[in-house]
Amino acid sequence: MSSTPVRFLTGITTSGTPHLGNYVGSILPSVRASLTPGVQSFYFLADYHALIKIDEPERIQRSTLEIAASWLAAGLDPERVVFYRQSDVPEIPELTWFLTCVTGKGVLNRAHAYKASVDKNMANGADADSDVTAGLFMYPVLMGADILMFNAHHVPVGRDQIQHIEMARDMANSFNHRYGEHFVPPQAVIEESVATLPGLDGRKMSKSYDNTIPLFSSREQLKKLIAGIKTDSRAPGEPKDTEGSALFQIYQAFASEVETQALRQAYADGIAWGDAKQILLERIDQEVAPMRARYQHLIEHPEEVEALLLAGGKKARAIATPFMAKLRNAVGLRSLTTGATQAKPKAAKSSLPAFKQYREKDGKFYFKLADAKGVVLLQSLGLESPKTAGVSIGLLQKDGACALTALADQLKPVEDPAAVLAALDALRAEAA
Ligand code: TRP
Repeated sequence: MSSTPVRFLTGITTSGTPHLGNYVGSILPSVRASLTPGVQSFYFLADYHALIKIDEPERIQRSTLEIAASWLAAGLDPERVVFYRQSDVPEIPELTWFLTCVTGKGVLNRAHAYKASVDKNMANGADADSDVTAGLFMYPVLMGADILMFNAHHVPVGRDQIQHIEMARDMANSFNHRYGEHFVPPQAVIEESVATLPGLDGRKMSKSYDNTIPLFSSREQLKKLIAGIKTDSRAPGEPKDTEGSALFQIYQAFASEVETQALRQAYADGIAWGDAKQILLERIDQEVAPMRARYQHLIEHPEEVEALLLAGGKKARAIATPFMAKLRNAVGLRSLTTGATQAKPKAAKSSLPAFKQYREKDGKFYFKLADAKGVVLLQSLGLESPKTAGVSIGLLQKDGACALTALADQLKPVEDPAAVLAALDALRAEAA
C-alpha cells in the first residue's frame, strides 16, 4: 500500500455570481470533503474556462473575486487545501496542448456542449459550426489538463460533467500508452442528493436560464426572489404536492431530515404558499447569515483574496512545474545536451549488439546476444518461460559481469567473456 493521500480536485468557472445551486452542489460538498483526514484537495477558479463563454473582462474579474470569497466564507481553509486560480498555473495550458495531441478529434465531436451547439445550428438551418469557437470545442481537453496536472483521483462534479471526466480518463490512458505511466485516470464523484437544484422557474438552477438565487443576496433580496418561485394555484388549506415543487426541493437541500419531514407534513396539511416561502426564507437565511459578514469583508478587500490565491498558485506550481518538466522530457521536448538526448542517430542502432528472444521446436524459450555483425556472443539454454528469459536479459543489461556469473546455469559456456562484457557495456551506454 502506498501512503499517497487521495486527491480531490474541482473547479468552478468564473463566469457569474455564485448561486444556491453552486453552493449545495459544489461549494459546500467541497468544503466538507476538504476536512476529511487523508484527503488532499485542490480547488480552483476556472478562469481560462470562463474565456470560452465570456468576453467581458470586468465580469470575469468580478466573478473570480465572488467565487473565491464564497468558497472562503463557506469555510474553505486555504492552509489545508491547494486553493488557486487556474490562470496562475501556466503549466495547465501547456499540458492542454500535450493532451490535445493524444485526443481524437472525433471524441471531441461527441462532447455534449459542442454537440448541443451543432444540433441547435442544424435545427436552425445554419452552418453546423456557426458561432462555435475552437475554445468550446477544446473545453474538455482544458478540463482534462486541470485534472491530470495534479493527478486527482476523484473529481466531484455535477451530472452534466461526467462525460468530461470520462474523456480525461481516456486522455490519461492514451498518454500513458504512448509515453509511460504518468497519469492516474480520474473518477467522477456525484453527490446524488444535490446533483441539481431547481431554479425559480422549476428548471435546473443555472446562469444560462437566468433563474438563480444568488448565494449572497441580502435578506430582503432573498425574500423577493423566493416570493418569485413558481408554485401552482392551490389555495391555502388545499393539500400540496411535494413532487415537482421547486420550493420543496430547494428547502430539502438545506434542511435536515426532520425539518424536511415537517415541511412534507405541512404540504399535506395544506400550508399556504406564502407561509411555505417564509419557512424557506428563514432556513436559507439561517444558513447564509453567518457567512455574510466574511463574504462582505472579502469583497471589500480584494487584496486579501488576491494574496491567498497567489500563495495557492505557488503551492500548485510547486507540483506542476516539476511534473511538467518530467512530461516534457517524456514526450521528447528536451535539452539537446542531456541524457537520453545523446540518443545515437537511428543508423547507429544497427551497429549495436542486440539481445534476441525466441522459441524453438522443443517448446522451450531461448535468448541470445549477438554483436552488430550478428556473431553470437552469448547463447542461453532452453528455458521454461519467456518471462524467465526476459528477467535474465534484464539482469545482464543491468548488472553485467555479476549477472553473467549468477546466470551461469542458464547459459552455454561463454567463449569470449570480454566481448560479452564489452557488448553489455555498449548497450548500457546506449540506454543511459
Ligand atoms: N467545467 C466545470 C463546470 O463548468 C468547471 C471545471 C473546469 C472543472 N475544470 C474542471 C470541474 C476540472 C472539475 C474539474 O462546472
